[in-house]
Parts: sequence; C-alpha cells; structure tokens
Amino acid sequence: MQQKLQNLKNESLAQIISASSPEELERIRIQYLGKNGALNEIAKQFKTLTPEEKTEVGKLFNDVKIAITTAIDSSSNSAPSPRLSTEAVDTTLPGKRPQIGHLHPITLAITEISSIFEKISFTRTRYPEIEWDWYAFGGLNFPDNHPARDDWETFFVEAPEDEKLGKMLLTPHTSSGQLREMERVKSPPIRMINIAKCYRRQSDVSHTVMFHQFEGLVIDKNITVANLRGTIEYFVKTFFGENRTSRLRPYHFQFTEPSFEVDISCGICEGQGCKVCKEGWLELGGAGMVHPEVLKSGHIDPNVYSGFAFGWGVERCYMMKSGTKIDDIRLLYDNDIRFLNQF
Ligand code: FA5
Repeated sequence: MQQKLQNLKNESLAQIISASSPEELERIRIQYLGKNGALNEIAKQFKTLTPEEKTEVGKLFNDVKIAITTAIDSSSNSAPSPRLSTEAVDTTLPGKRPQIGHLHPITLAITEISSIFEKISFTRTRYPEIEWDWYAFGGLNFPDNHPARDDWETFFVEAPEDEKLGKMLLTPHTSSGQLREMERVKSPPIRMINIAKCYRRQSDVSHTVMFHQFEGLVIDKNITVANLRGTIEYFVKTFFGENRTSRLRPYHFQFTEPSFEVDISCGICEGQGCKVCKEGWLELGGAGMVHPEVLKSGHIDPNVYSGFAFGWGVERCYMMKSGTKIDDIRLLYDNDIRFLNQF
C-alpha cells in the first residue's frame, strides 16, 4: 500500500506539472482527490491493516494528499480565487500608520533639562527614591527631631532603622543626592545634575504627591555665588527664552548658607506685573552655597572647597514655560489622553 501511495504521488505530480489548462487541472483533482478518486480507493483498504500499519500508512496517506493539494493550488493553471478576480488590489497604496503615541511632557522636559546642563559639563545622576534619613536630612545638617523634617511632609517607610543612617523614607527632595554624589566622586570637582522623583503628602493646584526635582551641585576650589548666578541665568535663558531673567531672594535652608529663593521674570508681562504674577516674578525654587557641615558629611574639606546647589521642580518649570498654559499641576498625572495629546 505504501508503494501504491508513492506511485500515485509521483504520477499525479507529473500530471499537475504538465497540465495546460484549468479544466485539465480540475480533471486531475477529481481523479486523485475526488470522492471516488484514487486516494479514497486506497483509504477503503485501510480496514485490512493492523493498528501499527494504519499509523504508518495513514501518515504517508496524509503527506501524499497534502502534496497533491498544494501542487494543484500553486499551479499557474489553478483557477484564481473568486474574490481576487472581482476585486482590484492596489499594492502601491500607502499603509495605515499604527498609533505609536509620544513621550510624556515631563519626560520631554527631563530630557531637555539634562541636555542643557550636560552642555556645560554637568553629569546626569539618579539616586535611590527609597532613601535613609541621613542622606535626606541628617547629613544635610538637620538636627535630630528638627521640625524642618515636617516641612517636607515626608513619607516614612515602615522598616527597621539603621543605627547610623536612621529611618527609611521616600525621598522628599533630590538634595539627598548631594551626599551620594560626594561619596561617589570622592574628590572634587563635582558638577552634578540629579533628576529624580520626589514624594510629599501634598495635593492641590500646584502640588502633587509624586513630582520631579532637578538638583544641581557644583563643588570645586573658589566657587562663589557669582558662579551660581551665572548658571541660573544660563538655564533660565536656554529653557524659558532669551527674554526671561532671574533674581535671588534671601531665604533659609538648613543645608545651604547663604540660601536663596530663585525667581524668574514672568513670561506673560515680561517682569512688568500682571494678574498671573502680581509683581512681575514667579518662584522657581531654592538655591544656595553648600553649608560647610554638609561638605564635612560628604568627607570634603570646607577649608579647601566650596560649592553651590539648587533644587527646582520639573513640573513647575514646565508649567512656567511660555505656551504650555497649564493651570493645574495635577492635570499632568491624570492620564487624560485629550490633555496629553496637546504636547
Ligand atoms: C527643596 O526641596 C530644596 N531641597 C531645594 C534646594 C536644593 C535648596 C538645593 C537649596 C539647595 P522646596 O521644598 O522649596 O525646596 O522645593 C523646591 C521646588 O520643588 C519647589 O519650588 C517646587 O518647584 C517643587 N515642589 C516642591 N513640592 C512640590 C510638590 N508637592 N509638587 C510639585 N512640585 C513641588
């Protein structure tokens, strides 16, 4: 029976190849695959086989059937499918573009901020979001139990305390990266731009529970407020536009001395005063000269080196950029595609 099947296969394939019309091909199909065709005649004899023989011959039977069917279907004489003969297909038409979306506006802002600072040789860093008290507060000159810890509305993590590093918390500010960078680089110069997520128990039109800050830290010999001033002015003009400027106001931070709040001129009235800014200025964030105690925490000699630091909110900066017109910071994280598609 196996020999018969082999012969049948060879014979039928030879006939299919030499068929010269669709009609002849149809005759061959009926001859071999039809109800009373040669293959079914062989199938009728299966009952005489043992179960083992049936398995073996059955496999060959199926192979032969597939070979004949495939040869008929792919023959140039096979009849075209009824759909193809009635419908035209224009293979030159452009395809449909799949919707691939775009990056979130805050991701775009982070990329832009990184590249602005990388141009003046700052190194982009990112440090843990789940951090020890020492890096976020203790090592930054906050005395134990100082109420300033509350100013940052910190989330503390329920985890065993470390003897030296204290409690575990979610980073309330990127200033925790200052000591990490001092430990990494060991010996100045340091030019860090640390961009990371921060967490505080706050939610209103200008606050979200999760937000991003970018923290600049420069430590070297003879670093002064003039270097801080120049860096801020460079960033403000590059990110917000040539027509914008900045100013420093005295302030207090535990980890900088002197400390400042940085304002930028309002983009709407260009510093003249309007209903958005009132007096012509918008608050950007904090800055100052690195406190000598903080340098000591990072094993850097304050008698040899000095430095400046600043920490500003990515979302707030993005909202202050001309043209964004975002009046509620929470919109950025509502995941409403109608809002996000505008950027
Ligand atoms: C700080 O966090 C200091 N670490 C900044 C600093 C760094 C000072 C280095 C000196 C030297 P402040 O709490 O003001 O400061 O926050 C800085 C900026 O983060 C704010 O101006 C604001 O832009 C942004 N910010 C703070 N809290 C939120 C919040 N809940 N949602 C969105 N943005 C916030």
